[in-house]
Amino acid sequence: MAPATERLFFALWPPAEAARQLYALARGCHAGCGGRLMPRDNLHLTLAFLGDTPAERRLAAEAAADGVVGVPFDLSLDRLGYWKHNRILWAGCTQVPEALQALAAELAARLREAGFELEKRPFAAHLTLLRNAAPPAELPAPEGIAWSVDAFVLAASRLGPGGSRYEILRRWPLGGGLV
Ligand code: 2AM
Repeated sequence: MAPATERLFFALWPPAEAARQLYALARGCHAGCGGRLMPRDNLHLTLAFLGDTPAERRLAAEAAADGVVGVPFDLSLDRLGYWKHNRILWAGCTQVPEALQALAAELAARLREAGFELEKRPFAAHLTLLRNAAPPAELPAPEGIAWSVDAFVLAASRLGPGGSRYEILRRWPLGGGLV
């Protein structure tokens, strides 16, 4: 039987090579500050977090995403960051591409219009690498981790014995391409 609610979020999902590089970066950081290493296949950049969503609302979320007009862009992950309040060590970019800001903003606006309550804090583009990590001694700038973003996805987070597992439910091409 299908679950009554699913924990849903929209995200950018790195292709295999970028995920491999990000995971290698995460492992290097893990050696210094411990915490929980995110599995390679879980690495993603959240665009909008819906949280527990009744099954019948999923279609409304998909319809909101159908209306998004995005453009493809290059994402260079050239920055490591650490948030003390939640002990997350993350990868991000020194210059968030305008197309990424615009994509997150448009998606959030359409989801809110459809009645979804999203976080009020401004969008902070990041990929979580470690959770519950100790403060790092340094945050060296990573080099050469980039991908050409040509789609965004809707994903479900499922809690299993080994932690959260994510399943990609649907993909939307940016700029009208084929995905
Ligand atoms: P995080 O990695 O910074 O924790 C799936 O849980 C994704 O949704 C993760 O990328 C997580 O971000 C994000 N997420 C979880 N809870 C959230 C919340 N309340 N607001 C915004 N994003 C959230």
